[in-house]
Amino acid sequence: PKITYHHAGGATDTVEVPEGTSIMRAALSNSVSGIIGECGGQTMCATCHVYVRGDVDLPEISEEEDEMLDCTADDRLNNSRLGCRVVAGRDFGEIEVDLPQSQN
Ligand code: FES
Repeated sequence: PKITYHHAGGATDTVEVPEGTSIMRAALSNSVSGIIGECGGQTMCATCHVYVRGDVDLPEISEEEDEMLDCTADDRLNNSRLGCRVVAGRDFGEIEVDLPQSQN
């Protein structure tokens, strides 16, 4: 699977990741800035907030994720997700996300 991160300033990072890797974990292990992942993927911090580009058929937002998405530093939009809840292989083969400005 492949993830492209679009930074607030216009730069992009594209990484190939093994199946089972979340968007949050992939950013951290590839030194992609813009995702903090403070809670380590426990759905408890909202510092892995991303905006998903395009029309990707992702799983429903769980109640936990929904609550945390109300606590993001940057505005929650219709395409907001938590990066730790969206997993390569299981949820997508290729995905592009925009990174919130404040998460740097
Ligand atoms: Fe904390 Fe995703 S890493 S909610």
